[in-house]
Amino acid sequence: MESMQQAIAGHDGVAQSPADRKRTEEPMADDLFNVAGKVALITGGTSGIGRMIAEGYAERGVRTYITGRDFDRLQGIAADLSASTGGTCLPLVADLADPEGPARLVEAFGEREGKLDILVNNAGTGGNGPIETIDTSSWNAAMEVNLRAPFFLVQQALPLLRAAVAPGTYASVINLGSIGGLHVPNWEAHAYGASKAALHHLTRSLAKRLGRDGIRVNAIAPGPFHSRMTDTTSEAVKASVAAHIPLGRPGEADDVKGLCIFLASRAGAYVHGSTIALDGGYIAAL
Ligand SMILES: NC(=O)c1ccc[n+]([C@@H]2O[C@H](COP(=O)([O-])OP(=O)(O)OC[C@H]3O[C@@H](n4cnc5c(N)ncnc54)[C@H](OP(=O)(O)O)[C@@H]3O)[C@@H](O)[C@H]2O)c1
Repeated sequence: MESMQQAIAGHDGVAQSPADRKRTEEPMADDLFNVAGKVALITGGTSGIGRMIAEGYAERGVRTYITGRDFDRLQGIAADLSASTGGTCLPLVADLADPEGPARLVEAFGEREGKLDILVNNAGTGGNGPIETIDTSSWNAAMEVNLRAPFFLVQQALPLLRAAVAPGTYASVINLGSIGGLHVPNWEAHAYGASKAALHHLTRSLAKRLGRDGIRVNAIAPGPFHSRMTDTTSEAVKASVAAHIPLGRPGEADDVKGLCIFLASRAGAYVHGSTIALDGGYIAAL
């Protein structure tokens, strides 16, 4: 069997360069997945999936802005994330159900930063309920927050996204869709599902238009992740996970951090216009 010395010397026995030796001896600080120095804006980073993504970026040296509607709460969460990651997480208040919300948010962001490398359209809201009782305000809230806001945020942020583009470097837009937009679940989620299916489609139409600008646009369609919206500790979700998810568990922070780091880095440079199911195999197994 090959000895460690042989392995370090290389298979042909030729002594390796210091750089090669360094690569062998140390875990690779992988440039392919490096996102340090980038600037990210994550809508709805105050809980659940958005907070997980914010943590993943902040701990890797991304200057990370999160948004929420309640400034005091938001400010506390941003401060906690900065402290726990050793990185920089900053708060920007935004109500994305307001038609002017996206423009106001981008204006506030633009007063602080000259470019936007990563826009994560994560803020989302329900719109579930039986056909007999769902009202127009719940329907509208789902469409406003889940669909209208991502489009107008991209529109308003175009100059800042373009400012992040350089030869070999793309800006990256990541839309949080849902498996609820890829299939029809066993409960009634008409508005939510329609808004997410439309967001997946919007991802493709934005990708077609913005590829030539060097702005990559992709969507993630998560399965169950613990959040304010989804209680993965409830008996109903546990039973659904056990019955329908081949990996037999809900999503965890590292699962969504990993995919968002990939999509924002050079490793994901040729992924464009895709909706990626992040669901432990749920959709594949239907
Ligand atoms: N968790 C899951 O299992 C799951 C599965 C599939 C898809 N998703 C999608 O993933 C995204 C994150 O969901 P989550 O489960 O992590 O939800 P969550 O814990 O409920 O967080 C939702 C976030 O959106 C923000 N938000 C809601 N309405 C808003 C509005 N009108 N204006 C601005 N911000 C608003 C909230 O901010 P404030 O309340 O602080 O203002 C919060 O930060 C959503 O798009 C959701 O549809 C989640």
